[in-house]
Amino acid sequence: MSRRIVVTGAGRGIGLGIAKKLIAEGHEVWGTARNPDGATELKDAGAAGVLKLDIGDTSSIEAFGAELHSAVESIDTLVNNAGMTSVDLGVDRRAQGPLQTTKDVVLRQIEVNAVGPMLVTQAVRPLLGKGTGPVVLNISSQLGSMIVGAQMPFDVGYNSSKSVMNMVTVMSATADTDVAYVAIHPGWVQSDMGGPKAAISVDESAAGIVGVLNGITQADSGRFVKIDGTDHPW
Ligand SMILES: NC(=O)c1ccc[n+]([C@@H]2O[C@H](COP(=O)([O-])OP(=O)(O)OC[C@H]3O[C@@H](n4cnc5c(N)ncnc54)[C@H](OP(=O)(O)O)[C@@H]3O)[C@@H](O)[C@H]2O)c1
Repeated sequence: MSRRIVVTGAGRGIGLGIAKKLIAEGHEVWGTARNPDGATELKDAGAAGVLKLDIGDTSSIEAFGAELHSAVESIDTLVNNAGMTSVDLGVDRRAQGPLQTTKDVVLRQIEVNAVGPMLVTQAVRPLLGKGTGPVVLNISSQLGSMIVGAQMPFDVGYNSSKSVMNMVTVMSATADTDVAYVAIHPGWVQSDMGGPKAAISVDESAAGIVGVLNGITQADSGRFVKIDGTDHPW
């Protein structure tokens, strides 16, 4: 059955990969980008629309919510994919461990990677309420896991931001039992963020994520999973 799905940060990287797979499966996909004019690959793939959204800017999230509400009556799925690392703040990511980093670098990543997606979810929650089997899939990271993050302590702002995203996911699952909230680690992926030496391609990651998404039911709410659908350690 065709679902109406919003994917944030769908102009490039994993978000573009997810959007293209979902479109190919016949779903109605609305992507977001900070510069919708530049999202030509997403448009060419057949997206229903590309809306402007900066998840690090509250007024942008409000404007996006209003635009989406005027465009559609309901949505079935939100994929909170957009995200950043400290590299996007112009610093050496390897030098952002807990004994070196700064308040601004840590807080900005939490603002963008965790608070932003939470506010996007709030903005579209009324539309999810009118959807069928509504799902919020948060693209998290293994680095948000206490176990894995402890072994890679070079960007404490990023790891913490994904831990906060995971906490938002489980709390949302408890607070709102009408929507399935799931967090997923997409793998180490050959995107701009993951770099060319990463373990898997965008296509492999997107295929796994879409496979998991297709199988999510309310019983999965509050889970943190890998792209093969098995549980990821917290
Ligand atoms: N790549 C990996 O190995 C890996 C591993 C674990 C988790 N992840 C997570 O997977 C997600 C996608 O990452 P990726 O690898 O595709 O990264 P990417 O290639 O760097 O792409 C990042 C995406 O996020 C968007 N974005 C960044 N800051 C934004 C903001 N303030 N507002 C709105 N959109 C913003 C970008 O949009 P613009 O085009 O507008 O810049 C772009 O679409 C992220 O949440 C990331 O943390 C990635």
